[in-house]
Amino acid sequence: MHRHFLRLLMGSRVWLVAGFLLLPPAFSAQVPTEDEGWRPPYEYPYPDALVPEVYAARRSQLLRYLGPHSLLVVFAAEPKVRTGDVLYPYRQSSWLWYLTGVSEPDAALLLSPKGVELGGRRLQELLGIPERNPLRERWNGARMGPAEAEHLLRLPVLPRPQFDSLLQHLLPELDTLYVVAYPTPGLRLPLSGRVLFAERLEREWARERFPQLVLRQGFPPLTRMRAAKDTHELRLLRRALTITGEALVSLWRQARPGMGEWELQALLEAEMRRLGADGTAFPTILASGPNACILHYTDARRRIHQGELVLVDCGAEYAGYAADITRTFPISGHFTPEQRALYQAVLEAQDSAIAACRPGVPFRLPHWKAVAVLQKRLYELGILSDTSDIRRYFPHSTSHHLGLDVHDVGPLDTLRPGFVITVEPGVYIPPGSPCEQRWWGIGIRIEDVVLITDSGAELLSAALPRRAEELERLLRADPRAVPKAR
Ligand code: GLY
Ligand code: MN
Ligand code: MN
Repeated sequence: MHRHFLRLLMGSRVWLVAGFLLLPPAFSAQVPTEDEGWRPPYEYPYPDALVPEVYAARRSQLLRYLGPHSLLVVFAAEPKVRTGDVLYPYRQSSWLWYLTGVSEPDAALLLSPKGVELGGRRLQELLGIPERNPLRERWNGARMGPAEAEHLLRLPVLPRPQFDSLLQHLLPELDTLYVVAYPTPGLRLPLSGRVLFAERLEREWARERFPQLVLRQGFPPLTRMRAAKDTHELRLLRRALTITGEALVSLWRQARPGMGEWELQALLEAEMRRLGADGTAFPTILASGPNACILHYTDARRRIHQGELVLVDCGAEYAGYAADITRTFPISGHFTPEQRALYQAVLEAQDSAIAACRPGVPFRLPHWKAVAVLQKRLYELGILSDTSDIRRYFPHSTSHHLGLDVHDVGPLDTLRPGFVITVEPGVYIPPGSPCEQRWWGIGIRIEDVVLITDSGAELLSAALPRRAEELERLLRADPRAVPKAR
């Protein structure tokens, strides 16, 4: 209700601007109505990801996990306001993306093992998506409508309002409804400080009307499926990683002392886009000198001085899939003795962690290996006098799942074939730390991506150099030798 009201409000505002600024009265009669006039042609924006049978196979696998009287519904992410009537670039919910490939807002999917009756057919899966609206499309571009969705994704489709009514009609017959991600999980009311949780409110609403129904948020088998990447996902992940690696190499060829962090960020992200990325999977961390000790520094406002290290933690997003790679390099092309000593320690920790990656071992084993190396090396360098203080200089863990989300979903108990994880040890010595001053302000992280295979592991980001001498060589290379766009 509330949402419709807002939408109505926003719609009328847009038209006010249109009529006022752009369309003189004589022209307004020619504005196309809902069923006449030109509308932009629709093209699926991620052709590389358009493999309907892959999504269909995932849905049928998921259907096997659902009880006979249960139903699973997956909602699209909500568009988010940046300021006024300007929205953030839209990003689909990873859950809906994983199961359908739909990249549009206001879509929803239902999966019913028993099937729902519709037009004489019994359907186990159904997509709801708004009808196309030529008036809106003249402003905001073409959108996938029911006809396009049915044709491209090969899914039975209902326009969204009918989909919502159908869903409501099904509730009395169900014993369990799994909701995969409320588009807006909670809302904080600023005066009272109260927080409204969508799930709790919906559960109260359902309890009054459908006492037999259990409402659950999320569906663990779906989470487990997302953790083990299939060949389609690995293809897209490899592409995201290749683009990220090539953008870093291109950056090394151009980075020079005296440049601003923002310039390096611009060069890096421009190259990602040039190579076909849709954008970045998360805000780039481009941190020089002591800024590298701020784990998620994203301001990029500092000028980089001769002799300093630059830590770049970045990832292209390609067809929804995230890369996540970190390299730390000396802007002048040479590590100082202190920088090199710490770089070698982090590299050795990473080598040891990568070597521990294989199926069946604890998820945390790579982390324990990295910690052991860093404890030993920082003690030898005189930076740590008590190895149990390691968290002071290595305060994060070594691995997370990587996939549609940069910190992807998945179990954290045991490594299994198909898991894609990062291996990212680091050492950060903020100024003022209780060690010799020559170490102060050095922050180093090296992050790579590993696929757990049936027999061991594959380093998916292996093409990108990470040894100190290799970085030094690339940093001194001819800046004109930038690779060609494809
Ligand atoms: N870029 C965030 C992380 O490495 O986890
Ligand atoms: Mn990262
Ligand atoms: Mn990471």
